[in-house]
Amino acid sequence: MYRSDAPGRVNLIGEHTDYNEGLVLPTATPQRTVVELSPREDQVVRVESEGYMPIAYRLGEERHCGDWGDYIRGVTWVLTKAGHAIRGFDAGIASRVPPGAGLSSSAALEVALLRALRDAFSLTLDDMALAYAAHKAERDVVGARVGTMDQLAAGLARVGEALLIDMRRSEIERVPIPTSVEIAVVYSGIAHDNAKQGAYNERRAQCDDAARRLGIVSLRDATLGDVERLAPQNATLARRVRHVVSENERVRAFVLALRAGDLARCGAIVDASHASLREDFDVSIEELDILADALRSQRGVRGARLVGAGFGGSVLALADAGTGSDAAHGAAELYRSRTGRTARVVMPV
Ligand code: GLA
Repeated sequence: MYRSDAPGRVNLIGEHTDYNEGLVLPTATPQRTVVELSPREDQVVRVESEGYMPIAYRLGEERHCGDWGDYIRGVTWVLTKAGHAIRGFDAGIASRVPPGAGLSSSAALEVALLRALRDAFSLTLDDMALAYAAHKAERDVVGARVGTMDQLAAGLARVGEALLIDMRRSEIERVPIPTSVEIAVVYSGIAHDNAKQGAYNERRAQCDDAARRLGIVSLRDATLGDVERLAPQNATLARRVRHVVSENERVRAFVLALRAGDLARCGAIVDASHASLREDFDVSIEELDILADALRSQRGVRGARLVGAGFGGSVLALADAGTGSDAAHGAAELYRSRTGRTARVVMPV
């Protein structure tokens, strides 16, 4: 029996920048997804996960079915296609990363499964190659045109530090999170599901379109001057560009402020990120705005913003150490009174 696990991710800042060759700053959730796996002598794959219908198929017969099993089928398909010698297996999954909360439960599952398969079949895959294999599974079999942040975070991030990832250069730097900061995460109760998000793919297409019009390889090369040039031609695309340009700047500024332990500045940057995601990238919804405001009104909170792709999922807050739990629960209560919806505190645990 082989046992492996992987965390979900909370992106501190740098949203919708990964597929524009930009900068992101995710950290790991304390919650993890665990896979227990026994190799078989044949080509049959059987996987169970609590609360879901079990799946079974033969290696080589993977296809997109539109259910949770696509993450499993995606992983075995990618490995087989890359020439890795695997056989069938029986596996059980237990996850504490809440699905739909915008914390990349899917990447946690893919990476945890890949780690178990690496051990069981002695595959030569380093952590970086493993993250890219997970990404390919999600893109090609699940059908979500996501960037690589989530899989890199699930594969490489640790609690207590953030990963500054430069997507263009594939460079990763570990940035310690000072103990004076606490990260609170509250799930809005409105599921975000990558595979169903046509709006996500639309944002990507808009970014590609803007880069094409500007004659640049990706929006990593765009400037605020480009925003002005594009505005008379297409105001929507100009706003998308402004978000990406300003968000990359915010990642840089945030890292400097975090290293200096300047929490007030970190909080202001996080608030500005939320405003940009709402006004320029149009990926917030009313409930997320209400939840972010509710968090901001709590004692010790320095700033709050939606985390992940948007359209639902969670809001994160940066809080002074020791205030995160009360702030998260207080905000959840306020959110319930304002929206009638039940929010769930994900962090601190
Ligand atoms: C989703 C995707 C990531 C990234 C974020 C937005 O989580 O999976 O690749 O694009 O949205 O930052």
